Amino acid sequence: MNQWTHQLWKLIYKLTNFMDRIPGLKQLVSRPDVQSFRKRNLTRYVYGLPDRRYLEEQIIPAMLKAGHERILFVGCDTYTAHIPNQFEAAGVECYTTDILPEVAPTGNPDRHVVCDIADYAQHVPANHFDAVLFNGVLGHGVTAERMEQVGQTLHQVMRPNTYLLIGWNKGTVEDPIAIQHITDRFTHEEAYGLSARKDFPKSSHVYDWFRRRD
Ligand SMILES: C[S@@+](CC[C@H](N)C(=O)[O-])C[C@H]1O[C@@H](n2cnc3c(N)ncnc32)[C@H](O)[C@@H]1O
Repeated sequence: MNQWTHQLWKLIYKLTNFMDRIPGLKQLVSRPDVQSFRKRNLTRYVYGLPDRRYLEEQIIPAMLKAGHERILFVGCDTYTAHIPNQFEAAGVECYTTDILPEVAPTGNPDRHVVCDIADYAQHVPANHFDAVLFNGVLGHGVTAERMEQVGQTLHQVMRPNTYLLIGWNKGTVEDPIAIQHITDRFTHEEAYGLSARKDFPKSSHVYDWFRRRD
């Protein structure tokens, strides 16, 4: 996608969001065809973002080479619906979970659980996962305080010495390397040949890798 196309999707994305704020347009905005257009537009917009390109072009390919058996992808949306298929096609079981029942169709139909991530340990055995992708959830539903329970759960369902990716946005939540509930259980370090932290010019998105300690 070139820069101009990305700017066009961004403009349409911002315009459709603005429509939400105009009371007279409420009926139009809630129409199923308008909703479906918005979802498609959101996917196109998100795909042009530098952090999303990094996830698609660096993180996922690096993980696919690691010989994993199973991974957990937390938080689903229309623009992530292809990710479980990518892992499954490479022989990696990709479990998905989200607290919202309405996004369940965008998860892996064979391995999706609707629940609060803090309660996820009830659904799989301990030490089940070779990696966890926790992108866009801290600061978008899960607070730094909540990481006390969530950190415990992730530690429980991951095998020792496996990697947790936390993707987050500056300004929405405390920096995860300063959240003791995380650093008590996980060490911030590079993973899969990728740097421990990756941020982007002109973007608030940050990726941080953590290794599960024993
Ligand atoms: C911004 S989206 C991120 C989606 C995706 N992980 C990505 O890579 O973009 C955040 C998602 O996290 C989910 N979420 C928020 N709090 C959660 C919780 N406590 N347990 C499970 N999912 C949660 C939301 O329902 C939402 O679908």
